[in-house]
Amino acid sequence: MRRAVYPGSFDPVTNGHLDIIKRASEQFDEVIVGVLNNSKKTPLFSAEERVNMIKCITSDLPNIRVRSFEGLSVNFVRECGAQVIIRGLRAITDFEYELQMAQTNRVMAPDVDTMFLITSLEYAYLSSTTVKEVASFGEDLDKFVQPVVADALRNKFRTRIMQ
Ligand code: PNS
Repeated sequence: MRRAVYPGSFDPVTNGHLDIIKRASEQFDEVIVGVLNNSKKTPLFSAEERVNMIKCITSDLPNIRVRSFEGLSVNFVRECGAQVIIRGLRAITDFEYELQMAQTNRVMAPDVDTMFLITSLEYAYLSSTTVKEVASFGEDLDKFVQPVVADALRNKFRTRIMQ
């Protein structure tokens, strides 16, 4: 079985991430979306919320599984019995960080390869950070994220304003 892991923060998952998930699902028998639960960072959404949003928007894709993980991506990849890490590349600005991470991962785990998918042109500008910025001003999010994610963002910022 050809199995890949797509690790990331997904805080929250964007249409750009979904595009990568769909395209990876066509290349592998199974793709496991790995949501990093990093105790050193304070994400907007808990790992459980992030996992549930991704599960919801990928429910029509039979070969996608979604799990949270802690620690190193390569350890999670091995635990999943996968051979490949999937990452999306939007622009040259992503390249240096991705190259460093892929090389480090390769030194730690020569049995695991990283494969990059070039982000579709319509999502090349999109990031979770900019989506959160837009959401914080109460603007329309429908071009950036799926409806369930837009609702979750609206709820999150409404709750924050009321606090
Ligand atoms: O969505 P992101 O924030 O760009 O994803 C980054 C992620 C989660 C893939 C990366 O930070 C990661 O793999 N973190 C776990 C620790 C690790 O394995 N680091 C790689 C060695 S430098």
